[in-house]
Formats: sequence, structure tokens, C-alpha cells
Amino acid sequence: MPVLASQRSAFEVPEHICYLNCSYMAPQLRVVRQAGKAAIDWRCRPWEIRSADFFDKVERVRTLFGELAGTSAECIALVPSASYGLATAAAALPFGPGEAVLLLEGEYPSNFYIWERLARERGGTLVRVERPSDGDWTAAVLDRLVPEVRIASLPHCYWADGAALDLARIAGACRAQETALVLDLTQSWGAMPLDLAAVDPDFAIAAGYKWLLSPYGSGLMYVAPRHHDKRPLEENWAARAGAENFAELVPYKDAYQPGARRFDVGERSNFTAVAQMEAALEQLVAWGVEAIAAQLQILTGKLAELCAGADMRQSPAPLQAPHIIGFPLPAEAGADLVERMAADGVYLSRRGAMLRLSPHLHVEQSDLDRFEKALRSSGKR
Ligand SMILES: Cc1ncc(COP(=O)(O)O)c(C=O)c1O
Repeated sequence: MPVLASQRSAFEVPEHICYLNCSYMAPQLRVVRQAGKAAIDWRCRPWEIRSADFFDKVERVRTLFGELAGTSAECIALVPSASYGLATAAAALPFGPGEAVLLLEGEYPSNFYIWERLARERGGTLVRVERPSDGDWTAAVLDRLVPEVRIASLPHCYWADGAALDLARIAGACRAQETALVLDLTQSWGAMPLDLAAVDPDFAIAAGYKWLLSPYGSGLMYVAPRHHDKRPLEENWAARAGAENFAELVPYKDAYQPGARRFDVGERSNFTAVAQMEAALEQLVAWGVEAIAAQLQILTGKLAELCAGADMRQSPAPLQAPHIIGFPLPAEAGADLVERMAADGVYLSRRGAMLRLSPHLHVEQSDLDRFEKALRSSGKR
């Protein structure tokens, strides 16, 4: 696997900033800014925007993302957020009284509230998999996958520390008892390889503004072909057959656009966002997820060594994502550690009791040096 050297020049990160916070929000690619600016300029000339422009770039985004995710454009829908995609899945999957949805304890709220509501409204329950002391989420999930669990809604790695799940194993167990599998891949798609065909989830969703390097308010959803006939969350004109012909939107059409297109959010042709997604996905496809992951693993490994040197050690996890690492906050570090590091030009997150580091390809040796220095001066009072 060829390892990608630093790609700093592709990003808008100034020299004096050590940004280790892609899990919070992606650093912006230069090509993404240029595409956005060009789209805003184009919008000043609506007479140049043709009906085909509502569809062509959207289809290009579907194709590019299909390539990145290892599936076909037919299975991809454009959504505005992870919560929208998860709500689509919750509305589409069968679920009744006495049944359960399985989630990780401490799951990101967008992947909690919708299932909590579904369980409450339909007389079901939640099975919440407690955080395992040995970091083995896979074993913990398999252990709690009782027959009442009809839906499991899981990530590829835990959002606060990157402890990873073996989704192929979990998917096999779900399949064996006909439990639907929904994936929130917001913290992994684009940075962590996933064999989508082998896992074969029912729905998989990612907000775009993290590892897909796309704008805030964009997201992508995979819908398995067996659900392409399900009910979308809303009804919009562009999702119906023949929408390309603006002169004939009426009479109304019963048929939808083919594949997963019926699940697109209304106004998904959003010209600025779609142009920016196209630019981001082109770059990600050119780099390749395997190569991105290989380089990010090197970077997180080096960061972990620096943290160990400052007496901060990762909680053990048998499987660890390549791109996110978390450390228990040292008691003596003080609640304002993140702010003090930021004052030294180093950006990372605190999530609960964890300090989270999540670099992208712009990070290079000078960033690691800056991080080490800031950790030494800010890590301990
Ligand atoms: C695991 C996970 N899912 C989803 C989101 C974002 O959710 P939404 O797109 O609904 O705002 C985040 C944001 O941090 C996240 O970490």
C-alpha cells in the first residue's frame, strides 16, 4: 500500500496551526473552497442554470461516492445530516411492540434520540451496550444481540476515542437472526476502509462535514436494494420520474426516480454544496480510502507515542480506528487543557472524560513537534 506523504498544500491550514480535530469538523480543501466560490458566482446568473444542472452534478456526486464506498450510484441518496438519514431508516424499517433497538451506550445523540422515540412510540425498548472495560465493543454487541433486537444501529468506531467494531462479524450475527443493521458512519466513511458488500447493511449514513471533507449540511446515505421501494421521509418533485422535464411536472407522477433517489432530501441540488461535495469526493477517490487510512494510522501512532511520553495512555481496544485516538484526561491536566492547547495553536477535542485527536493528511512533522511542545507546557499545571 503506497503511503501518502503530507498533503498540506491541498488544505487551507496555515503553518502555525496544528489541527488535530477532523472528528469535529474537517479542515477545508482548497479545491472545495474554489468549487464553492465558483458555484456562488454562477448562482448570480440564474439564466445560465439549466434544468439539467439540477441533476447532472448530483448524479456525479452519487457516482463518486459509490466509488468511494464500494457500491453503485443506484444505492446512494443525498441527505442533509446523519439525523435525516437515521430518521429515514427508522421510518422505513418494521418495528413493533416488545421489540428492541440495540445501540452503544454513550452513542452520538443523532443516533440515539430517533431510536428512543421509535421505541417509546411503538411500545418497544432500547438495548444499550455498555462500554466494555477491555474496549471490545464487538464482543459486547454480540453478547447483547438477543432475539428481541430487531434493529441494531451502530458506528464503525466509537466517536469519542476511535475504538472500532468488527462490522462484518456483527453483520453476520444480525443476518442470522434477521435483525436490520443501520450504520452511522459519520466518524469513519472516507478514512476507514469498509467492505460494504460483505457487511451488507440495510442503511448506512454519514454527515459530510468530517471525513468526507464536504460542507456542513451535506451527507450521504447508502440504501440496500431491498429497501428501494420503502417510503421516503418526504415527497419532493425531483424524486419523481420525469422530473428532468420542467415543462411537464404536472400531471403528477406516481413513479419515483430509480434506486435510492427517492430518499434524496428536497432541494438536494443545492448548487454550492453539491459542487463542493463533488470536489471533495474527487480528491478522496484520487487518494483512496486505504491509502488515507494507512497514513492517518502512522500519524495517530506518532501522536499516541507523544501522549505516552506525557503519561497519557490510550485505553486498550482490540480494534482501533486508524484516524481517531482518545486518551483519558489526566486528572492533573485541568478542565481547560483544550483551551490552553488552543492558545498554543494546537486544536483537539474533549469528549466526556476523553481527549480526542483526529488528524487528516495535512498533518506533518512540524505539527507533531508543535503538539509535543504544547503538551509539555499545557499538559500539566
Ligand atoms: C457519530 C456521529 N454521528 C453524527 C454526527 C452528526 O449528526 P448530525 O448530522 O445529525 O448533526 C456526529 C457529529 O459529531 C457524530 O460524531
